[in-house]
Amino acid sequence: MAKEIVLSGIRSTGNLHLGNYYGALSKFVRMQNDFDCMFFIADLHALTTHPDPLTLHTNVKSILAEYLAAGIDPEKATIFVQSDVPEISELYLLLNMHVGIGELMRTASFKDKARKALGITTGSSNNDDEDIERQIIGNESNKRVNAGLLTYPTLMAVDILIQKAHKVPVGKDQEQHLELTRRFARRFNSYYGVDLFPEPVNFDFGGAPVKVPGLDGSGKMGKSEGNCIYLIDEEKVLRKKVMRAVTDEGPKEPGSPLSQPIANLFSLLELTSTPEVVKQFRDAYADCSIRYGDLKKQLAEDILKVTTPIRERINEYINDEAYLGRVVRQGAERARERASKTLSEVREIMGIRKF
Ligand code: TYM
Repeated sequence: MAKEIVLSGIRSTGNLHLGNYYGALSKFVRMQNDFDCMFFIADLHALTTHPDPLTLHTNVKSILAEYLAAGIDPEKATIFVQSDVPEISELYLLLNMHVGIGELMRTASFKDKARKALGITTGSSNNDDEDIERQIIGNESNKRVNAGLLTYPTLMAVDILIQKAHKVPVGKDQEQHLELTRRFARRFNSYYGVDLFPEPVNFDFGGAPVKVPGLDGSGKMGKSEGNCIYLIDEEKVLRKKVMRAVTDEGPKEPGSPLSQPIANLFSLLELTSTPEVVKQFRDAYADCSIRYGDLKKQLAEDILKVTTPIRERINEYINDEAYLGRVVRQGAERARERASKTLSEVREIMGIRKF
């Protein structure tokens, strides 16, 4: 029986952090043995936030090295760069004809990015959505909220649908995009009365999709939040970051609830340490004997166990341009094979025919 198709990607906007690793990359590595896997570098998506042309390619290269260093094997999985598959750009245009501006404007990630670009602080108004809309439509100088940002979910849906992927391993923050992908697939299939696109689902080995928190006591770990531990971080840098993580004054009485910063540290510990170690610190918190310094030392140690071998391999791969080139050329060939087949089917279905 043919293996199910798995597809996922990461934007080339900088080095990969623990959020990318636990939300996506570590799953890629585990899935490559059992599925027909395609993993790519989303450089077109990176353009929505206008990176410097000089750094775009460097970032593609470093993510490629990070994929390989984490253990993705190009003989088992197809590894490619999004912009090497021009069929994606054409299908992006075609699928946009079936996507509503309203549904794109309501996407959480769009509102988030638009809010940031417009300088609207969350909670500054009861009518946040209207505020964003008014400013986007009403002010010509707001070209920072570009159309690529709005149609980001269409492009992501196309990445998935053009390969007819069934499973898409992503972190929790991408679930809304995946929901939109399913909606677009259903809409296309039903509009044309075809059964072309499968409806893809997230995949997390039976567990719930993860949201890796940052070290600043707030929400998720993210490049733009400046609260990341990178796979490439040197030992000293990494230890320093963990030791500086935000904490609180400690539990006041036995059984005190966890504050957000401490809950975050425990989430990181759960991802990187053994259940015994986690239990030991949970018990210490419960009976108020915990010392956050010890917790952080342990956490840094366990994170380093994961990242050190990866970091060493990244440094080997990054300098082997010839090998990196071979990997993505072979990957592009495989990715284009499926993509061009799907694109031909879509053109035919939509009535675009050659004379
Ligand atoms: P990106 O580049 O923001 O993130 C890449 C992957 O890392 C996961 N991730 C996290 N998971 C848990 N906790 C975190 N703190 C955290 N931060 C990041 C993301 O969930 C994601 O899985 N739109 C996508 C890229 C993309 C894509 C696709 C993914 C483009 N086309 C097609 C899958 C399929 C993105 O921006 O990911």
